[in-house]
Amino acid sequence: MHNVDIELVEMTLDVMKYAIHRITNESPEMGAPRKEEELKRQAGETITPSGIGGENAFRLFRNVLVKATVPIDHPRHLAFVPAAPTRAAIMFDLVTSASSIHGAYWMEGAGGIFCENEAMRWLVSLTGMPEGAFGVFTSGGTAANLSAIVTAREYWRKNRENQNKKGCIITSVGAHSSIKAMAKVIDADLLLVETDDLMTAEALQEKIDSLDENTMDRVFAVVATGGTTNAGIVDDLNGIAKICKELNLWFHVDAAYGGGALAADSVRHLFDGIEKADSVTIDPHKWLFSPYDCGAIIYRDPELAKAAHSQEGSYLDIFKDPGAQGFNPCDYQIQLTRRLRGLPLWFSLAMHGTDKYKWAVERGIELANLAGELISSRPELELVRPPGLSCVLFRRKGWSADDYKNWTYTNHRDGIALVTPSKWKTKESIETVARFCFINPDTTEEDIQVILDTMK
Ligand SMILES: Cc1ncc(COP(=O)(O)O)c(C=O)c1O
Repeated sequence: MHNVDIELVEMTLDVMKYAIHRITNESPEMGAPRKEEELKRQAGETITPSGIGGENAFRLFRNVLVKATVPIDHPRHLAFVPAAPTRAAIMFDLVTSASSIHGAYWMEGAGGIFCENEAMRWLVSLTGMPEGAFGVFTSGGTAANLSAIVTAREYWRKNRENQNKKGCIITSVGAHSSIKAMAKVIDADLLLVETDDLMTAEALQEKIDSLDENTMDRVFAVVATGGTTNAGIVDDLNGIAKICKELNLWFHVDAAYGGGALAADSVRHLFDGIEKADSVTIDPHKWLFSPYDCGAIIYRDPELAKAAHSQEGSYLDIFKDPGAQGFNPCDYQIQLTRRLRGLPLWFSLAMHGTDKYKWAVERGIELANLAGELISSRPELELVRPPGLSCVLFRRKGWSADDYKNWTYTNHRDGIALVTPSKWKTKESIETVARFCFINPDTTEEDIQVILDTMK
């Protein structure tokens, strides 16, 4: 299994050929899921005592299984938060795997961690957070949010009076589901400011004023969103920062999706106040063109994260020894053994330069505005609200929730596009609507028109 022989060489060439073809393919086929029984029927037994051979297994993957997946970088994949890793970043993901580097401790991963930290410095600079702020790459936004919330909770519990209290976090209805899920993981209560739209300082203050003394005493953090997943809305970060400062609450900004837009001059002002955050989540695997998986968490004071996350064990003592010292990414988030998942971003940034990143993010915003204009010009369609960052919510007049669902399935089945419905909540109603999220700079006006034509 670990031998180098002719079979391995041939396999490597096959894999490289596939990778080159896939990386350079500008119009990958829009795959679709199939029932597990069907895949089983086509694939047969793949795990057997003597193995089915690399050639067979790879043929199955190439000819059957990969076709039952949706390429995240398809220019007409505009659902959820799609992705469009740069070709350089994907190539370097291969190099990252081939290099077999443990990315937890400087002692083993110094050269690679150095690269990650170079990319991280650029991310931190986008936030405008003060000297000393720094972060690490995580498996995604959920892990980044959890790492930040644990840090905040541990910091709060440093005060002995809080040690036996159940913590409480305030966020808005528009916050991503991972905030709610991660509050559950740490057994904290979650209080919601009732808005899918922008969380203003006034709305937050109103929520705080409505709490009894006992509940308020348990609140340790406020989570604002820097680009809601549904609509690209950026909360009032300056106003929220002010309240957090006055009340001594941890201020976390979840910019997992929207964080890429910090690079875009046209919308940077929307994020004013992010520099006052105690922690910020940004996912390079969303709008900074990294392959999965690559999130990031940045702390105003990384020492607080270290106090919360650094693991102890006799087998780990050597890493704390002065002879092995350096930056240890595992000290600042929940994961110990880790892949150097920031390396593909580093390589792509180093190769292309930050100006190209600015351009590509601006292109997503431009596409959202263009889609807004095209939607407004069609009598059967209507914008629900103006585009937010690269998200567009719109309605097809007269359609029911089922019509939107059928539209999704038909387009997907016909290989036209992956576009899914969402909901828009106001105080008065919850409406099913259509949604686009633009990430891929290769998406064209024609792609948008083709999709809108399917709503006639
Ligand atoms: C605002 C926001 N936060 C967190 C997440 C979760 O990120 P991940 O899926 O990388 O864990 C998402 C995912 O879309 C998001 O949009």
